Amino acid sequence: MYHVPGCPLWPCGSQRSDAAFAAETGDLRSVVDEEGIVTVISVPQAFNEEELYVDLRSIFAHPLFLKCEGFNFAGSIKLKAASEMVEAADRDGVLTPDSILVESSSGNLGVALSMIAASKGYRFVCVTDSRCNLSTRLLMEALGSEVHVISDPDAAGGFLGARIDYVRALCASDDRYVWLNQYTNQGNWQAHYRTTAPAIARQFPQLDVLFVGAGTTGTLMGCARWFREWHRPVRIVAIDSFGSVIFGGRPGRRMIPGLGMTVRPPLLDESYVDEVVRVEEADAIRACHRLARRGFLFGGSTGTVVSGAMDWLSRHDTGGLTAVAIAPDLGERYLDTVYQSNWVEAMYGNDVLRDDADARVQACHQTAF
Ligand SMILES: Cc1ncc(COP(=O)(O)O)c(C=O)c1O
Repeated sequence: MYHVPGCPLWPCGSQRSDAAFAAETGDLRSVVDEEGIVTVISVPQAFNEEELYVDLRSIFAHPLFLKCEGFNFAGSIKLKAASEMVEAADRDGVLTPDSILVESSSGNLGVALSMIAASKGYRFVCVTDSRCNLSTRLLMEALGSEVHVISDPDAAGGFLGARIDYVRALCASDDRYVWLNQYTNQGNWQAHYRTTAPAIARQFPQLDVLFVGAGTTGTLMGCARWFREWHRPVRIVAIDSFGSVIFGGRPGRRMIPGLGMTVRPPLLDESYVDEVVRVEEADAIRACHRLARRGFLFGGSTGTVVSGAMDWLSRHDTGGLTAVAIAPDLGERYLDTVYQSNWVEAMYGNDVLRDDADARVQACHQTAF
């Protein structure tokens, strides 16, 4: 286990030093006893499991390693972006003791910021919309945050514009509000450039293809930029939902939070993306249920990424191919949606989870740049 100097996240997991090793920072201590390394933290953002993968070959019959990003106290990959953005704002003097953080989030970034704000003693207001899961909202409130739920979509039919208008109005009303703005903040992608991509490369030095879901595109751009500089080519395949306009196309209804946008993300630079696979939400739901039947309960966007990756792999020669996909969170926050049959049938029709339909994880469409 190694400590990255200056890194607010500790890459926990399988990398262990045989030598007696002890590291100490203000936030985290690592001590070695006869059993191995014990990690001791004093702030929740100091811990993140960076080295856990699920081998999906036996479930989906294609070679794919799924990097699990949900094992930290915020429960999702958004801990990384939240930590990076708050640390930078702290460092740059943007935050003062009476600052009130405010952010537009579909949920996971809001939970991560709630956790960090509680840990650092800041107030936090999350502006979300009616697609945010109830459990996610309750989590933020339990961590002491205020949650504003926008229920009326903007003129384009999405919620993002309405959420951002609300954030801007709050900031204009009181200069204690600080909007880190995950949609434009460079720390969003830099977090993944610094942590996620090198962690994958360490475990998979022969990586051929990486599947990354796209929301703000922070994860996608951080990984894509890092692998562009890697010593061998890695194909970067972005996964998006139908109904999202990130890579063009028509806007449409999307119920799975996290992936997709109703506007083009300001962080996106398409020149780093080799291909895009778009996934129907019904196929994402089927992938989630297929994983759950094998004991792996992942979030809806993981179903989207896995479904898109399997579609891609089924159309390519996978002999000797090393492929990794990123799972942004776990499934507990989706018990009343993705894993609730009434909700699923109401959203996607009565047949969506029929066994024969379940067996095929396809109907994705591909766009090559
Ligand atoms: C569950 C989930 N999946 C995927 C994403 C997309 O990540 P990014 O914003 O880095 O594109 C998010 C972002 O909020 C998310 O919450």
